Amino acid sequence: MKKIIGANIARYRKEKNMTQQELANHLNISFQAVSKWECGQTTPDVYLLPLIASILGTSVDQLLGYSHNFDGAVITDYEERYKTDEYYWGVKPSRMCLEILRLMPPQNKAISVIDIGCGEGKDAVFLARCGYKVSAFDVTDTGIEKTKRLAEKAGVYVDAFKANIMDFRLEREYDILFSSGVFHYIPPELRGEIVENYQEYTAENGLNVLNVFVEKPFIEVPPDKDQRERCLWKSGELFMLYHNWYFEECLEEVFDCNSGGIPHKHAMDRLIARKIKKIQ
Ligand SMILES: C[S@@+](CC[C@H](N)C(=O)[O-])C[C@H]1O[C@@H](n2cnc3c(N)ncnc32)[C@H](O)[C@@H]1O
Repeated sequence: MKKIIGANIARYRKEKNMTQQELANHLNISFQAVSKWECGQTTPDVYLLPLIASILGTSVDQLLGYSHNFDGAVITDYEERYKTDEYYWGVKPSRMCLEILRLMPPQNKAISVIDIGCGEGKDAVFLARCGYKVSAFDVTDTGIEKTKRLAEKAGVYVDAFKANIMDFRLEREYDILFSSGVFHYIPPELRGEIVENYQEYTAENGLNVLNVFVEKPFIEVPPDKDQRERCLWKSGELFMLYHNWYFEECLEEVFDCNSGGIPHKHAMDRLIARKIKKIQ
């Protein structure tokens, strides 16, 4: 929790173009105290949190890493797109789920998985049906409701909750971290920190199963692009962040897509990386 609060204070402070000294002046404390929070060495006193949140133009929930669009701002167009009864992404699992089954099949001891940006839950529910212990989050209320509904219909449990990838950080280990079609919402300056948190909370020998949309000069902007997307990744950028992990699969592909009913193309880097203990 210390690290989460610290990272969020640093992020919102920088977004406001405020120095540690300026924040400290507002709070009548030393800049060293702010620096210690941001490094995760200490946490602010509880009574200071509402004041810090108001100075930084955020909410206490958001500082704690649990909130989302506290001011009602729409974070993604998918909130609206998921409102129909139909499943925008269908209910067929991603091919990457089959790779999970191959590389780390369900065992007697439950293997824990977290689906980051689970959408309407097709992959989370599939994995739960296969016997994994699945948690899943997305920033949309509609997506989370549909995930729970899909799980209920399949007779399985998925711990589905609403959270924003920008300020939610893992605090417990998972065997498998899975995310499909989501990381382009993370702005470049947050990517290193977020991936570091995901790597830290991956169990030894665990997997990170990820894909990111990448920029290619010969691929046009998709017609149903979410207007709130941040930016595509550079080709190979994801692989670099995992350079000291074991690559089970690593590839870049250009594929056809028909989401939104208009045929278009995407370029994507896919990575399945395993966390292996360092040689001492
Ligand atoms: C392309 S969809 C992929 C959904 C799902 N992973 C799938 O493959 O079916 C992108 C998802 O990212 C979610 N998303 C966008 N911004 C987010 C954020 N800041 N935090 C968490 N999820 C976010 C959207 O709500 C949407 O469900």
